[in-house]
Amino acid sequence: ADPLVAPEELLGSPLTLIQSQPSLPLPFDLFRNNTGRGRDNSRGLDLAVPEHRQPLLDALATCQVPILAEATDADVDEAMTRLKAGFPAWNATPVAQRAAVLRRAADALQAALPAYCALLVKEAHKSFGDAISEVREAIDFMRYYADEAERLSDDGVALNGRGVFVCISPWNFPLAIFAGQVVAALAAGNSVAAKPAEQTPVVARECVALLHAAGVPADALALLHGQGETVGARLVASPHTAGVCFTGSTQVAQIINRQLASKPGAGTLPLIAETGGLNAMIVDSTALPEQVIDAVVQSAFRSAGQRCSALRLLAVHEAVADGVIEMLRGAVRELRVGDSANLATDVGPLIDDEAFQSISGEVQRLKSGARVIAEASVADGGPRLLAPIAVELSGIQDLKKEIFGPVLHVVRWSGDVENVVRQINALGYGLTLGIQTRIDSRALRLASEARIGNVYVNRNIIGAVVGVQPFGGEGMSGTGPKAGGPHYLLRFAAPATPTPVV
Ligand code: SER
Repeated sequence: ADPLVAPEELLGSPLTLIQSQPSLPLPFDLFRNNTGRGRDNSRGLDLAVPEHRQPLLDALATCQVPILAEATDADVDEAMTRLKAGFPAWNATPVAQRAAVLRRAADALQAALPAYCALLVKEAHKSFGDAISEVREAIDFMRYYADEAERLSDDGVALNGRGVFVCISPWNFPLAIFAGQVVAALAAGNSVAAKPAEQTPVVARECVALLHAAGVPADALALLHGQGETVGARLVASPHTAGVCFTGSTQVAQIINRQLASKPGAGTLPLIAETGGLNAMIVDSTALPEQVIDAVVQSAFRSAGQRCSALRLLAVHEAVADGVIEMLRGAVRELRVGDSANLATDVGPLIDDEAFQSISGEVQRLKSGARVIAEASVADGGPRLLAPIAVELSGIQDLKKEIFGPVLHVVRWSGDVENVVRQINALGYGLTLGIQTRIDSRALRLASEARIGNVYVNRNIIGAVVGVQPFGGEGMSGTGPKAGGPHYLLRFAAPATPTPVV
């Protein structure tokens, strides 16, 4: 048995622990079961209900994903000049007016939810469930940053934009992260050059059109589609760039950081980066196995593991490991891997052929060196479908890199649970962590020792809710401030009088 379990530490029945509890006023963000109610993400469209489902299927039937021309060097330079010229007027627009524009955009997005879901399914290969959550998250970001701009202004914080902000976003949340970055920068008074991931420009183009229609001036927001190495690099290098917001790999964040630091005469420009993670879940011997399995399957395999928050490492106490692994094997076998437009699909395809080749190679390598403990099958035909897999490693130190797909590593632990946290900290990332235990004091202790941005107790570790669960990591996982949290807008703004308190 787990040596650290003292009977007096056990709090209440499992039933009390799975009820919703508020986040605690602690210096870290710790989220328990079901916290996160309150914004749009908590309202479920039920795909089993025909009246809910039909508008989505109708939108999918007419959805087009054209190939867009990439921006040339001249396009980038022209846009940056225009945005530089447009900045003062947008920055001088009263905060209440800027907020009203963003709320109008949120209402328009809400009204067009089926069309945006269809685009996410077609262009980014999202399941309908993930697509619905993502559109709602984008709406949440628009409303939240509008509210935050007004709150800060009411508190006497003058939100002065810095100038032209470059926003570079990833393909895995091509609407929510794209809109979150852009809207935060706009809310703070900046004009924005938005560079979406090269795989997903169409949903970004639609979002920019919607923001323009809602009242963001044409010279305060421009879309620059193209490769990171060309369009992204030229935007970062532009003499008009006043700051960069980037979500993607740690390696690219470091390149951008170096580029910004070496710009002649630029002083220091802010980089707000959200990057990768080697995210873990610690399971002790008191954890509820069914709750663990549900949380693991959601966290590791939903969105085919293509989330920076996704679970990569399950650390299970040896006393319960065999049972947990057995249940995991059964749950993984039940997963339906198939086309994302199929409502029955649990795990859809990977984003592109390059990702499929690279992750398939990682899986082959793991299969030859580690014990496969669970593997799904690919029943439906279709491109880029990779069967979710779990492999057992002999120790946390064997986990070397983030594999951005449905691949889970499992280790057994015994003895001192603090040692497990130390090893997780030593991985150098710090984005999400799950703790599964019925010992409340242990959850609090481990959460305070973990150098991790978002800690979730007795639940899955994905799907942070805007305004309720601010999202962002430490170490190699990002710079902060957390997206969807009360400090985020301040980083987009120039220091002003009175000085913002962060
Ligand atoms: N914000 C997302 C989540 O919490 C990750 O990008 O899952």
